[in-house]
Order: sequence, then C-alpha cells, then structure tokens
Amino acid sequence: MRNVDENSITQIVLARHAQAENPRLRQIVTGIVEHLHAFAREVELTEAEWFQGIQFLTDVGHITDENRQEFILLSDTLGLSMLVTALNNRKPAGCTESTVFGPFFVENAPRYENGDDVANGAKGEPCFVTGRVTGLDGEPVANARIDVWQADSEGFYDVQREGAQGNRGRGTLTSLADGSFHFRSITAESYPIPHDGPVGRMLKALGRHPWRPAHLHFMIEAPGYERLITHVFRDGDQYLDSDAVFGVRSSLIADWQRHEPGRAPDGTQIDTAFSTLDFTFVLNPSPARPVPR
Ligand code: BEZ
Ligand code: FE
Repeated sequence: MRNVDENSITQIVLARHAQAENPRLRQIVTGIVEHLHAFAREVELTEAEWFQGIQFLTDVGHITDENRQEFILLSDTLGLSMLVTALNNRKPAGCTESTVFGPFFVENAPRYENGDDVANGAKGEPCFVTGRVTGLDGEPVANARIDVWQADSEGFYDVQREGAQGNRGRGTLTSLADGSFHFRSITAESYPIPHDGPVGRMLKALGRHPWRPAHLHFMIEAPGYERLITHVFRDGDQYLDSDAVFGVRSSLIADWQRHEPGRAPDGTQIDTAFSTLDFTFVLNPSPARPVPR
C-alpha cells in the first residue's frame, strides 16, 4: 500500500490485522488504533509532543522493576485501573463494592490467628479491627480467607522500606463459624502514592496531588462466592474526595472510633490513644447473580 495519507491511514492499518488469528486480540488492537488515531487528529498532535510522549513512556519503563510498577501507577492515576475494576465487578445491590488492588499486595503474607497483631512492628497508633463476612442473604461465611494489608503511620508499606524488615502491616486470617474475624493493627493514615518518578512529575504538571485517603486493603475469598478486592476508607479523611487513584466508594467509608488510653476490646491495657473499626463484608455468590448494566 502506497500514498497512505492522514485520511486513509487508520483503515489501512486496521486492514493489516484482518488475518489475526485471535479475534479478541484483533478487537482490542483495533480499538487502540482507532482511539489513538482519533486522539492525534483531535488534538492535532505535534511531532514534538509525540516525542515527549515517547520519552515519558520510556521513563516509565526505566523506573519499573520487580519492586516498582510505574505503568500500573500510570494506569491508576489516569483512572484506567478503577474503570477496569468497575467494568469487571458489577454486583447486585447489597454486596460490598470492589476497588483498586494497588501495587503493594504480597503473596504468602504470614497467617495469623484471630486476635493477633498484624502490625508486627509497623509504626502507628494501635487499632482494633472487628469484621464479619456474610453472603447476600445475610448468611455467615465461615472459613473465608481474609488478606489485609496497609501502610504504616509514615505512609509506607513494608515493601517500600529499604532493607528486609519482613512482613509488617499485612497478614492472612480466617473467618470463624459465625463469619466474624478480629485482629489488632495500626490506625490507617493518608499517604502519597510513589511520586518521585515520571508519574509524580505528570501529576505535578497537571496540578494534582499524589495523596490517597487513609484505608485498609482487604481481599476476601471463600468457596461459593466471588473473590472480593476492596478497601475500607477512614471517614473524615481530607482526601476522600480527591483520591489520586479514584478508588473511593461511599459504601466503603467507615468510622474509625478514637479512644483515650485505657482498656482495649481485647482486654489489654493501652497507654496511648487507639482506634476501633468494625466493618461487614458482603460477598457476591458465584456464579454471580445477573446484574443489569
Ligand atoms: C494503594 O492503595 O496501595 C495504591 C493504589 C494505587 C496506587 C498506589 C498505591
Ligand atoms: Fe493502599
């Protein structure tokens, strides 16, 4: 094909993919090409701007390694991660909503018994969490696997700390016969997503801050139910309406009650202020009930 011009190029590129064996791959690449071309036409992209974009993506690649995934951060901050989460997790009313996974989950976190302290040395004000796992009809879900992970009071996950400190502020628990679980940890605080790289520079150029409102991450799995990946957000946080990754759902905001030093729910005497949190997680049955769009 010769003499390709600005009007004909999109269809000519798409025709080249007509023989692709995988129809889903063809559909996805067709969408990408159509939207990229439409975008370049719409903004009349200059060559200098195109090159700046290439440079930016190159920087995103260079800073990415096994501990830092700048591409996911880019997807998160552009709202793509939350969009994909929303598209793939439509649930009937009453189910706990899903939100972004984030980059700080770790496989094989330590297993804890109910009542244990998952902080494991992470800095922060003590927090006592109680929860329940139920199904849509209110039935208790026993033996659910509950993964929890959180940042410390300085805003860092254990995996962001220099040197191996082991698992801090993360662990796996199992719900009891009545669906309940409880553990000790530290009070969640708001923190900035990593912003010392190209995504941070992008946010700054766009007049955006990198902060996420205080939250605990949960992943809950039980046979007969869909896996739930979500957060519980701390009510009153100043970033609830401007989360850098667009993950807040009103239904996921909970009251972290603050207490003066004294006796904690587990009976221990706490000589600093501490907080308590209670939250019920409602799982969607699997196979899922149909949900209207
Ligand atoms: C998190 O909540 O851990 C997170 C989510 C998206 C980007 C960075 C961090
Ligand atoms: Fe987080």
